[in-house]
Amino acid sequence: MNDNGQATILQVEQLNVYYDTFHAVRNVSFEVRAGEIFGLLGPNGAGKTSTLAAIEGLLQPRSGKIHVAGYDIAEKKKYARASMGVQLQATSFQPELLVPEIIQLYAGVYGVEMNKQKVDSILKEIELSSASSKRFGQLSGGQQQRVSLVIAMIHNPELVLLDEPTTGLDPQSRRQLWERMENMRSKKHGILVTTHSMEEAESVCDRIAIIDHGQIIAIDEPQRLIDLHRDDPKVISVSRRGRITLEDVFIGLTGKQIRS
Ligand SMILES: Nc1ncnc2c1ncn2[C@@H]1O[C@H](COP(=O)(O)OP(=O)(O)OP(=O)(O)O)[C@@H](O)[C@H]1O
Ligand SMILES: [Mg+2]
Repeated sequence: MNDNGQATILQVEQLNVYYDTFHAVRNVSFEVRAGEIFGLLGPNGAGKTSTLAAIEGLLQPRSGKIHVAGYDIAEKKKYARASMGVQLQATSFQPELLVPEIIQLYAGVYGVEMNKQKVDSILKEIELSSASSKRFGQLSGGQQQRVSLVIAMIHNPELVLLDEPTTGLDPQSRRQLWERMENMRSKKHGILVTTHSMEEAESVCDRIAIIDHGQIIAIDEPQRLIDLHRDDPKVISVSRRGRITLEDVFIGLTGKQIRS
């Protein structure tokens, strides 16, 4: 429990990730609570996907502690992973498999019962009934993303990790995804989402962390971040049309140069 009486679903403490000698994630610490949408915001190469990969247990951090639903991922990896659902930045399932086959395959991996009616109702829910006889490779990028999100949630995990889930989605699908995220929040899941979209961060995230060059440089509620940094000369210098937005704070704090 934290000060607000919410359970902590994800705790990341002093995380450090290296690729050989390159220090990609530097002393990153944050927590995600039950019933919270937490946004990780940062430019290309900031270390967002690397942070998620360490939480997922896909890469071994050099140091730091990660607890998912109370389980230390270094000691109780199986339990920790059973408590999280993951939608990767570039999820790709075997393109030749039928969509219902993929859903059933992953349900099997997580020990979730899945008959044809249940598959149909899932596809209906994401408005993809037409995909019931299609191969994954025949779906558009946005449709594939909808399927991969459903699969990430198939075992009703306490923590959901979404790496840029709305990139490439049309406005309708994006709104639908936001609603799904809000729905998960109301059921007390914890959601960690990476994004480049300031609109997304402002619209759906309860709190955000801004990360750059592997380091977290600010964590707060979106509106509080704006209020805290509205007088910062670096922020004012990049503002447009005389009002300070979250994007101005983001660019002001991370700088204007494009990451190589
Ligand atoms: N497998 C790897 N080997 C070596 N360097 C890597 C590897 N994966 C990522 N990096 C480097 O680590 C840094 C962080 O990359 P990461 O993918 O975590 O960034 P990101 O914040 O997710 O960026 P984006 O917004 O572009 O997805 C980058 O400098 C990247 O080049
Ligand atoms: Mg990434």
